[in-house]
Formats: sequence, structure tokens, C-alpha cells
Amino acid sequence: MTTKKARLLGAVAFGVFGATAALADDVEVLHWWTSGGEAAALNVLKDDLQGQGIGWNDMPVAGGGGESAMTTLRARVTAGNPPTAVQMLGFDIQDWAAEGALGNLDDVAAAEGWDAVVPAALQAFAKYDGHWISAPVNVHSTNWVWANKSILDELGIAQPATWDDFVAAMEAVEASGRVALAHGGQAWQEATMFDGVVLSAGGPEFYKAAFVDLDPEALGSDTMVEAFRRMETLRSHVDDNFSGRDWNLASAMVINGEAAFQIMGDWAKGEFLNAGQVPGEDFLCFRVPGSEGTVTFNSDQFAMFNVTDDGARAAQGAMAASIMSPSFQSAFNVVKGSVPARTDVPNDAFDACGKQGMAELAAAADAGTLLGSMAHGHANRAAVKNAIYDVVTAHFNGEFDATTAAEELVNAVESAM
Ligand code: GAL
Repeated sequence: MTTKKARLLGAVAFGVFGATAALADDVEVLHWWTSGGEAAALNVLKDDLQGQGIGWNDMPVAGGGGESAMTTLRARVTAGNPPTAVQMLGFDIQDWAAEGALGNLDDVAAAEGWDAVVPAALQAFAKYDGHWISAPVNVHSTNWVWANKSILDELGIAQPATWDDFVAAMEAVEASGRVALAHGGQAWQEATMFDGVVLSAGGPEFYKAAFVDLDPEALGSDTMVEAFRRMETLRSHVDDNFSGRDWNLASAMVINGEAAFQIMGDWAKGEFLNAGQVPGEDFLCFRVPGSEGTVTFNSDQFAMFNVTDDGARAAQGAMAASIMSPSFQSAFNVVKGSVPARTDVPNDAFDACGKQGMAELAAAADAGTLLGSMAHGHANRAAVKNAIYDVVTAHFNGEFDATTAAEELVNAVESAM
């Protein structure tokens, strides 16, 4: 008996035989969810599909932010062999759609009413030319700080409310002999901190002018110089072994009490949860001081590549429908650290940080302060993003001072546009 037949018979036996799943092949999924917390979240998706009789063919490409995954994807597509579904961010989705590489999800989107429930900021990436081309699985946000609560309690440090408080807190931690800031020296991680730092230095309008509109005046301004100075302050509070460290190992330093803080997107929460920690008891989550009221977001979406085979198409449709179901959005995002990609999912199952994230996402969308993450491909296309990465990382590693960094930023962005 073929595997597929066996699977279908199994599905019948368990009473989960649906019209779509009946035809569906396995899905081959390219993604970069390889840390403990990410893998736990991915299992929610695998199990969901397996429950419908759809098998999972895993194609993980490690590397936070997905740069390596995107390189692998390009090679697969060039070889004429795209995966069924690909984890993808922001402008990358639009670029692949513009190449005509993505399939059309309008049928499933119409049947499930996506138009009414997916926030406009996400539809801007999930639709191309008016057609649905990807299924958003979550909304992450980058301007968060994760803190070890017992270190702060022991040192009598209150949750920092301003940038200056934050700096004072880092100094106090360091004086106690611990690492103040857990950081992994990889360009995307420095860029992730830069999202929050630029906001804290300049506010949402400045962030938008610099990273979304690429206004050279904002990019080269005194405010940008101040943002780079703040990065220098952060650099002075990381440990000696930061270079090349993966983000989840930096999270582990906070989890195990080696370090007090990490500035990272809320996928970090997945690591704390995976280690059995509880927000408010073991760890704290708060916005990068000075960035409150603004949410820099990125939404992981599954883009479906053009496939001709009916079984593969059926699998794509079933996967897209699963991803967008309210129950899946709750179950997955509770584990992942993100918040749902639809506006009608109850917050009951979410912990305190998740409830805060959901409320802040809605408030920011209303206030016009929901802004795409530069670091995670939601403010500009990859070429511009990479140009910004280069400058931020070179500066962080001491290649030039803050004033020069702002000048370099103007030039780098101009030549990448
Ligand atoms: C982001 C992605 C998150 C998380 C993170 C670290 O780009 O949106 O889901 O996986 O990278 O790997």
C-alpha cells in the first residue's frame, strides 16, 4: 500500500477525512524555526495538519531572521523545485509574487472570510495585485525587552521606564558581576535591537521617515546619531563572547540567570515558556524604554509556491485554511510568543505578555503607530534592509563612530534603493 493510501485510510478510520485532505499530498515546508521554542510552536502546526491526514516533510534552514532560509529558497526555485510552502516575511513575499512564483489563495481566503479578519497591515504583505498569495500565521513584534525577574528583585531594580533608567539598570547589574545585556553578535540581531533603539531615540514618526520612507534627512540626522550612541551604550554592556552567538542562546543566558536583559522580538518568549518559566514570576516583558505606544511588527506568513499537481495544491489549500483557523491561531501563538494574525481571536489562552501584546497591537493599529520592522523585512525590501544591517553591525563592532555611522547609513541606503 502506498504511504498516501495508508494515510487516507487512516484518516477515514479516525473520521477526519475532509474533501481537501482527501486529495492532499504531504507538504514540504521550508522554515527557520529551529530553536526549542520555535520547534514547539511548529509542532502545533505539524500536529494540526497530521490530524487532517496531511504529512509533513520538514525543510529547516537555521538562522534567525531567515536570511539563510531565503538563500536556500532561491537555490531551490532556480533548480525548478520549489517547496510547497515557505515561511516568509514582508517584502520578500511581495518580491516573489512580483516574479510570478506564488500560487493564488483567493478561493480559501474567500471561503474562510480572511478579508474581514486579517489586519490591513498584514494584508499589505499577504496580497499581491488584489489576490491572496500567503497565509499569515502570526504577528511578532521586535521592540521588547526580556528580563530575569530574580536578578532585578535581588538588586532592587524596578522595571525601567525610561532609556536612562534602563542604562542605570544595566550598570547596576554589571556592578553585581553579572552580564547586563545578553546579545548574539549577528547582523540581524543588532538590527533587531536597532528597531527599538531608533524608536526610543526618535519616536514613531522619525522611525517611519527613516526606515519606511528612507528620508535621507532622517537617516543622517542628529537623532540618528543619538540612536547610534545608544547602540554604543548597549555594546558596552554585552559580554566578551557575544560574537556569533545565536539569539536563543542569548535568551538562555537570561533564563538561567547569567544575564539580566535581552532586547529581542517576542519569539524570545517562546524560549522562556519552553524552559517552563512564567511571565511576571520568572521573567518580565516590557517595551524598549522610550518606545512605548509603538509596535514594530513582523508577521510570519506561509507563501505557497506555484505547483501544478492537484495533490500539492490541495495540501496548500488545507494548510492555508488550517493556519488561519481561529483555534489554530490561538494554540500556535500561545506557544510561539507572537499574537494572532486575525482580529477576532479571544485572548483567554494567552499569558500576561501575550495579552499585553494583543492589546498594544490593536491600539497601535488605531493610533497609526503600528510600523513594519526594519530588521525583519517589513519596512523595506531586502536590498535596503541588508544595506542597513551592514552599517549597524559595522558600527556595533567599532568600525566607526556614531556620527560616521549616520553618514554611512545615508550612503548605504541611497545606493541600495
Ligand atoms: C523572525 C521570525 C520569528 C523568529 C525569529 C528568530 O524573523 O519572524 O518567527 O523565528 O526570526 O528565528
